[in-house]
Amino acid sequence: MKAPVICIDGPNASGKGAISRALAEHLGWHRLDSGVLYRALGLAASRRSLSPADSGVLAALAAELDVDLHGERILLDGEDVTRELGTEEAGTEASRVAVLAPVRAALLERQRGFRRPPGLVADGRDMGTVVFPDAKWKVFLTASPEVRAARRYNQLRHQGMDVSLAGLFEAIRERDERDRLRDTAPLRPANGALQLDTTHLGVSEVLACVIEHVRTTGRSMRPEVSGEQGGDGHRQRTCGDT
Ligand code: DC
Repeated sequence: MKAPVICIDGPNASGKGAISRALAEHLGWHRLDSGVLYRALGLAASRRSLSPADSGVLAALAAELDVDLHGERILLDGEDVTRELGTEEAGTEASRVAVLAPVRAALLERQRGFRRPPGLVADGRDMGTVVFPDAKWKVFLTASPEVRAARRYNQLRHQGMDVSLAGLFEAIRERDERDRLRDTAPLRPANGALQLDTTHLGVSEVLACVIEHVRTTGRSMRPEVSGEQGGDGHRQRTCGDT
């Protein structure tokens, strides 16, 4: 019997972070922000002047990566790199190393290690398809590119970062494309995932929708047994449509 998992996947700035954070808090479950691992690896790689061509060295680095998640604080080799990892540049570096199959393989068990009672809310790109294929709940969030760029812009400006909306729009477009088109664990909805377009929804509306989905799909939140969630397609739903 394994602890239950709720997977929240989707492209950059689709709302995954805010929703998974709020959901984990609501349920009293653990949370895995898998993007942080790729961002930390991207930073460690650029500090060592490694490029994606150094795939073997990067995989070894990923396996030994000294990254510590303390709530919202992230320590890399003991140094607080939270702010550095929050930039769009860190996201781009992460996306570049994330195309490499040996890197992804090296991070797989570390991610699965976050699955502990009473349960885990995991967000990323391949939580439902690769890391936790047996999860009972899989959600895929989307939003229009314009709205996602605007959300990211507001978030970074709020943190005091000097960014341009046009620059972010382009960076997000490029990153989405790289994440979607890579051979290993590309960004895509898992079979049977609940797909939600959050373009016109606020965090509380999306959260309510996901909680309703968990309640109506799961009936109970007991630990689940292994087995890929069935489903031969994707369910595109709107809130309230269960
Ligand atoms: O979620 P994020 O923006 O922090 O992720 C940064 C990059 O890391 C993303 O563009 C691609 C990569 N990533 C990934 O490939 N798989 C994940 N599960 C999470 C992130």
